[in-house]
This record gives sequence, C-alpha cells and structure tokens, in this order.
Amino acid sequence: MADPRPVGVFDSGIGGLSVLRALIERLPNEEFIYIADQARVPYGPRPIEQVRRFSEQVTEALLARGAKLVVVACNTASAAALKHLRGSYPVLFVGMEPAVKPAAETTRTGVVGVLATPATFQGELYASVVERFAQGVRVLQHAPLGLVEEIEAGRFESPETHEILERALAPMLAEGIDTVVLGCTHYPFVIPQIEAIAGPGVRVIDPSPAVAAQVGRVLEQEGLRADPVARGGVQFLTTGDPARMAEQVRVLAGVQSEVERVDL
Ligand code: DGL
Repeated sequence: MADPRPVGVFDSGIGGLSVLRALIERLPNEEFIYIADQARVPYGPRPIEQVRRFSEQVTEALLARGAKLVVVACNTASAAALKHLRGSYPVLFVGMEPAVKPAAETTRTGVVGVLATPATFQGELYASVVERFAQGVRVLQHAPLGLVEEIEAGRFESPETHEILERALAPMLAEGIDTVVLGCTHYPFVIPQIEAIAGPGVRVIDPSPAVAAQVGRVLEQEGLRADPVARGGVQFLTTGDPARMAEQVRVLAGVQSEVERVDL
C-alpha cells in the first residue's frame, strides 16, 4: 500500500534546499514539505538548548501537516536535537552528520578538513563520528563565522564570502588536506568558490546524495513509499519573508512555487 503523506524537511534557512534538491531527484514521486526557520537563522552560534527548542517547534509544525518522516536537513539541528527528537515524537527522523567516514576512507594524505558551525562541533554527534571513523586520520576543523549569513543573503561570490573561505581553508591546505567535508547544509551552495581556493587536488564532499539515498531506504523498509506513479511536489513554508524565499527556491532548488508564512 502506498503512503501519500508528505516527507517533512527542515533547516534554519535555505541550507536544507541542498538536501531537498537531492531528495527530489532521488524520490520524484514523494510529496515534501520544507520549513525554513528564516526568522531565526543562523542556528549555528546559538546555545544547544535553544536550537533544540526551535527544532521541536519546527518538527511539531511538520507533524501537524501530516509528515510521515522528518529529514533534519541541518547539521546544527541534528547535532543539538536529533537524539532528543527521536525520543520525543512517534515518527522516524533522518538527520545529518559530517561525512567524516567517506573522507577518512578515501584520503591519501591522511589529513581532512571539516567545515561546520560552532554548535555542530560542540555536539556529541561530531565527537562520536570522529572517534568511530577517523582513526589514524588527522581531522582539522573550522567554523567559518558569517558564512551562513552570506549564503542566506545570496552573496555566494562576494569578497566577504571569499575572505571567510580563504581564512578557513588556507591553514588546512598548508597542513596538507586533500578532502573537505561540508558539515553544514548551506555550504554546498559555495562549492565552486571552495574548489577555486582549494584547487583540483582537493575533493569536496557534499553529503546530500547519501542522505537522500538513506531517506529512500528508510521509506522502503518501513513501507512508507508514495505511489510509484504519483507526481510528487513540494510545499514551502518560512518563518521569514515568503516572497524572498520563493525567489531563493527558484534559484537554488530550481522549483517555481508559492511560499507560505508560518509562525512557530
Ligand atoms: N544549515 C545549517 C547546518 O547544516 C544551519 C546553519 C545555521 O543556521 O547556522 O548546520
């Protein structure tokens, strides 16, 4: 039996659109509801308890709209709240964790760099990923302050963005990294800028396709897949400015859609 209910997806802002793009490509028959908490972006510099509370509020809004599974398309919210959400709500969650495992498996220099928000680096999830998967590999980390704000504002190619990335990557490159793990869902939107600084010898890992594949597996295993002939779609909501978000969705996810305002 097919399950027509939507898959809920959320992020502090537009970062989760990098995950949504991969979800739409992988699961074209599914309906999605995407909530961007743009009134409160960025989450990264906030205390863990506050990010947890925001994550609960967004989850409840998704569940109130009938979500059959929730994708926490935000590394910061996953670090702060994933375990707690799983213990609090009767629905399955798929979250993000920095892709240290594939980086550690493929590095040739034995040095990898991770870019993520301060809250992601503070969480237990990050420590456990490094401990489990990065034995024998040097993992360098940096929280590029202000980068999420630049990306939210659409300033992918601004001198500020370049400077923030340069400051993050130069010391890592000097240490010999050959892999950069994008530990924040906003960062895939500046992959060309990262590649321009890092050069062709450095692999940049965007975890979105792997997360989309995982969502597909969970839906399949749990018998939650939509009808294979259904034509999927996305409903977008933001706590911020709907007109602005509609433009961001068009540019970044390639979807022409209305955006509704939601108060949490
Ligand atoms: N996109 C988010 C992440 O993956 C959150 C960034 C932020 O709000 O600071 O971490």
